[in-house]
Amino acid sequence: MKLTLKPADRTVPLAPERPVLEAALAARLNLPHSCRGGSCGACLGRLLAGRIHYPRGRPLGLSAAEESAGWILLCQAVADTDLVVELREQLPAGEAEIKTLPCRVARLERLAPDVMAVYLRLPAVESFRFRAGQYVDVLLPGAKRRSFSIASPPHDAELLELHVRRVSGGEFSERVFNGLAVGALLSIEGPLGRFRYEPTAATGPLLLVAGGTGLAPIKSILRSLLHHGLDRDVHVYFGARHEIDLYEDAWLAAEAGRTPRLHYVPVLSESTPAESRRRRTGLVHEAVLADFASLADADVYAAGPPPMIAALAAALPARGLAPGRLHSDSFEYAPREPG
Ligand SMILES: Cc1cc2nc3c(=O)[nH]c(=O)nc-3n(C[C@H](O)[C@H](O)[C@H](O)COP(=O)(O)OP(=O)(O)OC[C@H]3O[C@@H](n4cnc5c(N)ncnc54)[C@H](O)[C@@H]3O)c2cc1C
Ligand code: FES
Repeated sequence: MKLTLKPADRTVPLAPERPVLEAALAARLNLPHSCRGGSCGACLGRLLAGRIHYPRGRPLGLSAAEESAGWILLCQAVADTDLVVELREQLPAGEAEIKTLPCRVARLERLAPDVMAVYLRLPAVESFRFRAGQYVDVLLPGAKRRSFSIASPPHDAELLELHVRRVSGGEFSERVFNGLAVGALLSIEGPLGRFRYEPTAATGPLLLVAGGTGLAPIKSILRSLLHHGLDRDVHVYFGARHEIDLYEDAWLAAEAGRTPRLHYVPVLSESTPAESRRRRTGLVHEAVLADFASLADADVYAAGPPPMIAALAAALPARGLAPGRLHSDSFEYAPREPG
């Protein structure tokens, strides 16, 4: 069986009982995707010919109306026949090649009680090109994979920096906190993802909004912007529960102190009374809304937990943010495969 992608007319082989998206990624096509769990809708395509089925039933991210209009979610769809699929977005020309690379853990640094920075050294002979905002998948035994955003910027890719939040019972993140040693060998695949900074000629404010380890891709974008020089006002909003979770707070405050057009706004959601006397409190999207009556000519890049992204997507259009100018990376996590 084969998949033909329109309008690019690329053809890739399909394996029986394997999701269409996986086959496309295995063939090195960087199709839009994020959660791989059927919830984020990033991998939506229109089925022009052929038949598919969903082994676990219609995924949550696909409405009945979308399904009857011919839309499918490629991360969940399994082909019954040859398929012709039109992508929601065209494949951009010059897309960075997705590579599977071995890498060594060069350094581990505890950033917060439940966040570890993992620095990975890539093979010296391999070039690894990516865009600020993208992520990699860490490949685990048994064809499992876990997504982590790249916190280092493209101009400084000698070590790849990841921020891993500990998830209770999490197969990979628990290993990062208990047992992963400097020198250990990992395998990664990337760069992945369509959340990436797009330079523009706009002069309005640029808002970078992070929740938790959503700071990772935001740090990559910010370091990239600082490297090239700020040509517009940049406002970094960082939401965390407590002060101790505001990792990179000192670095962000120092950069804002020496960069006139950079503004840093940390916001605590579960502050103690003492913390509330020192810091701004509430939800990070509420702080954005309180500070900006109008977001006309603004661009917003937001990364973090799905509820934060959903709240921004619901509220920002009413502030005049133009369609397409909210760029977001929702840290969805797929339901776990057995075994
Ligand atoms: C595009 C993208 C980028 C991401 N970037 C980052 C990043 O930079 N840093 C980061 O820490 N995470 C990031 N994530 C989330 C991360 O991929 C998941 O949290 C991952 O599943 C953790 O792997 P694990 O093996 O430790 O846990 P798993 O073995 O995958 O999960 C164990 C259990 O916890 C649940 N679970 C998994 N993740 C979470 C979570 N975040 N919150 C609550 N429950 C969860 C699972 O459903 C499962 O029941 C990103 C996700 C996406 C889609
Ligand atoms: S729904 Fe397919 S990648 Fe999220």
